[in-house]
This record gives sequence, C-alpha cells and structure tokens, in this order.
Amino acid sequence: MSDTNIQAGQLHIGGEWQAAASGETFETLNPSTAEALTQVASGAAEDVDRAVRAAREAFENGAWPGMDARARGRLLYKIADGLEARADELARMEAMDNGKPVREARMIDIKESIDCFRYYAGWADKIDGDVIPVPGPYLNYTRREPMGVCGAIIPWNYPLQMAAWKVAPAIACGNTMVLKPAEQTPLTALELARVAAEAGLPAGVLNVVTGFGESAGAALVKHPDVDKIAFTGSTEVGKIIQREAAGSLKRVSLELGGKSPNIVLADADLDAAVKGAAMAIFYNAGQACTAGSRLLVEESIRDEFVDKLVKRAAGMKAGDPLDPKTRLGPLVSQEQMDRVLSYVEKGKAEGAELLTGGERVEVNGMRGYFLNPTIFDRVTPEMTIAREEIFGPVLGITTFRDMDEAIHIANSSIYGLAAAVWTRDIGKAHRAAHRLRAGTVWINTYHNLDTASPFGGYKQSGYGRELGKYALDLYTQVKSVWVSLG
Ligand code: NAI
Ligand code: MG
Repeated sequence: MSDTNIQAGQLHIGGEWQAAASGETFETLNPSTAEALTQVASGAAEDVDRAVRAAREAFENGAWPGMDARARGRLLYKIADGLEARADELARMEAMDNGKPVREARMIDIKESIDCFRYYAGWADKIDGDVIPVPGPYLNYTRREPMGVCGAIIPWNYPLQMAAWKVAPAIACGNTMVLKPAEQTPLTALELARVAAEAGLPAGVLNVVTGFGESAGAALVKHPDVDKIAFTGSTEVGKIIQREAAGSLKRVSLELGGKSPNIVLADADLDAAVKGAAMAIFYNAGQACTAGSRLLVEESIRDEFVDKLVKRAAGMKAGDPLDPKTRLGPLVSQEQMDRVLSYVEKGKAEGAELLTGGERVEVNGMRGYFLNPTIFDRVTPEMTIAREEIFGPVLGITTFRDMDEAIHIANSSIYGLAAAVWTRDIGKAHRAAHRLRAGTVWINTYHNLDTASPFGGYKQSGYGRELGKYALDLYTQVKSVWVSLG
C-alpha cells in the first residue's frame, strides 16, 4: 500500500505505535482482488490490558477529563479538519480494505465521520446539569460526568464511520477509549488514531488495538477496568457481550442486526418507490444493518412493481470499487460471500422464486467476492430468508392485502432497527410510522441518517441511541450533589 501512511503491523497505545506483545500480525485483504493489502498487529489480552491501563492513566491523571470543555471541543474540530485534509486518501483506503465504492466511501463514510467530530465538538461545552427544586434548606444540582474508560468494538461495514460514531461523543464527554476495529477492516481506525494524535489529543485518550473478536474483543469486554462497552455488530455477538459484561457490570450499548421491512402501498409514487427499494437493499452491497431486506408490496400493484424493480436490479452491475462510477462493489470477505450464497440456496430450497441474480460474478478479471443483485419473489414470512439477517444484496418480496396485514408482517421479526413506508397518503404514512416497531422509520425515502438524529434499535436490534444529543447519555453518568443551605 504505497499510497497510504499505514503504520504496518502496529497498535496505537498510550500515544505510541507498538507491536503486539506476541509479535504476531495478520493480513487484511482487498475484497476486490482477494489479495493481501498489508499486515496488521494481532492484538490480544496483554495488549488490551496495556491499552486499558493507558486509557485509565489518561482518565485519572491526564489532562483530558478536567480540560476546559471548550478546549476539548476545539480539539475535536481539529480532528475533523485532519480527517477532511485526508478525505480522499481515507476514502481510497476504505474502498481497498472494505470493497465499498470509493465515491460512496468519500461522500458517505468519510463525510459522515468528519461531520460526527464537528457535531460533538460543538457539544463538548454544552453538557450541563440541572438544578432540582428539592424541599428543605438544600441546594440540589446534577452534573453529567464521563463514564471513564470506554471500549468500542466495531464492525467492518462502515469502518471509519462506526469508529467516529463512538469515539467522537465519548471523547467530547471527557472519556478515554480503547477502540477495537473489525479484523476485516482495521486500517482507517489506525489512521484516525494518527490524525487525532497529530491534532494534539493527549496520549492515552484514544488507543487502537487491532485484532480478532475472540481474542482482542473478548479481552476488552471482560476487562475489569473498562467502565463501558459500545458495540456494533451481529446480534449473536451482542448477546455474548451483554453476558460477559455482567461480570463487572460495565455499561453496555448495543447496535445489532436488522431485517428491516420496506412497505410499498398501492398509492405510492411507484417510480420513486422502485428506486428507493433498490437503494434500500443494494447500497453497500446490502451490508448495512438497516438494509431494506424485506420488501412488502400491496397485492394490487405487485406485477407492475416487481417488473420495474427486477429491470432496475438486473441493470446494476458490480464494478471495481476504485472506479468512481461504481455503485456496487464486492462483499467484504469470502466468509461473508459464502454466508450470503448459502442463504440464496436456502431461499430456493424453501420455495421462494429467484427472479434475478443469486450468483458470484467476475469483474474485470478480478477474483473478488462480487455478487449480482438478487431478488426473490413469493417469500413468505416463515421462510429463513425472511427471518434472518443475510447482510448481502439479497431482497425478498412478500405481498399483503391491507395496511393491517403489512404492519403485522413488518413487526413479526425479532429485529426492529428500521422500517420504511411509501404512500401518498400522509395520514396513513404517519399511522404506519407510529405502529412500526423500529428505531428509525422512513416515509417515502430510505437510508437517511444524520449525526444530529438518533440511531438505534428496538427488540433484538439492540438498545441505546447513538448520534444526536442522545449519545451523550451513553457516555456520561449523572451525579446528584446536595448542599446544605442551613
Ligand atoms: P461480528 O459481530 O462477529 O463482528 C463485529 C465486531 O465484533 C468485530 O470487531 C469482531 O472482531 C468483534 N467480535 C466478534 N466476536 C467477539 C467476541 N466474542 N467478543 C468481543 N468482540 C467480538 O460480525 P461478523 O462475524 O463480522 O459478521 C457476521 C454477521 O453479523 C453478518 O453477516 C451480519 O449479519 C452481522 N453484522 C451486523 C452488523 C451491523 O452493523 N449490525 C455489522 C457486521 C455484521
Ligand atoms: Mg480488508
């Protein structure tokens, strides 16, 4: 990777670049070519322990938590500026490490990461408490204090963005952090550490330990001196984390999987809904926790709608992520591609009708993990492909007769991350939005997100709200102070 600045094979702990205690490294791959990009340090329990100690030292004895909040904010602005100065390089790195189209990496992942630091920079000096009118000769007031040492464990689908969503609010509130990026996509987290250090973030405030989930991730969750874990990833691992965190009762927030319903009513603007439905599932090759993977279409428009959607999907061709025209890249790994293809087989075996896609494709002679946009019709709510998160470009279509049935199908999922409804009837739209059991509801649109707006799940999609002022609750705790006036 001659065009990047990666500190190959090193962790960032206590402001220094260092090898893993074991000396071990692992390869991170480019999913477009299935070839290694570079070596990354394989951090494990001993490294996590060093990082937690550095974060504890920075929290207890360092300048960060007690720093003038406005100065903390200025530092976050500088981190945002540092990311912006390297935005093109970071987008390229993300495209190579994850496989996502470079244009989307630049316009979404990197842009949103910069926004996130700017947004929480603004909050740093506005985290105030209340004065409570208590009886008697007392003054009672509250303070919002940082949690302490926070651990962040993040997935591979939006590597830098997921790091930003956790690091920015955590450090704005005065916490220190140990960040464990996904083993598939560790590179931009290391760059974030570099940018933050260059901006002047004190040593130990942000530590990055690359490594695998079962070793580095598990050690962070079990560590008795970590006060809070913020996790984004699979529901399966979220449950393990909740169990393991019980040992020290550390705080946990979880942003997990989804199986989001996208409901199209007969009175919708069909062309807009077709476009929206394709983007809902095929954006990021379906590797989005909010992917609109269950398309619910009102029976009376079914034929017309499905016809248009299949034409659109069949016209979407996977391409080289580094080509700015590409909108569909490969899946992140062989493992993920195999998992998605096994769901395609299950769909066929359980009687769904494959309308388009469903197989691996070759792009420009590259041996990467490219799949065609895939659509199944005649999917019933009991089928595996309607119940389980696939995390790939695979859409299942189910029809419904009326709104009640649509809402019933939509809500009959263990997940509740997002949902959408397409209709020209504004009353119907809001009634649906209120009945859908999901943390985000989109009306006549899909996948909108903003740093200022809360994001998180109902049911087994997790709990806690990231982004907006809501994330401040995840990274602060409230202290009640009583003063006798007698
Ligand atoms: P995962 O949940 O295993 O990985 C997410 C993060 O957790 C990674 O940093 C990983 O190293 C870490 N991790 C794994 N096991 C851990 C453990 N025992 N203790 C602590 N940390 C641990 O997700 P994976 O295996 O990459 O993908 C599997 C499926 O999970 C996907 O097919 C998809 O359905 C879902 N997923 C959902 C995501 C979301 O944004 N909701 C993101 C990534 C995956
Ligand atoms: Mg990679």
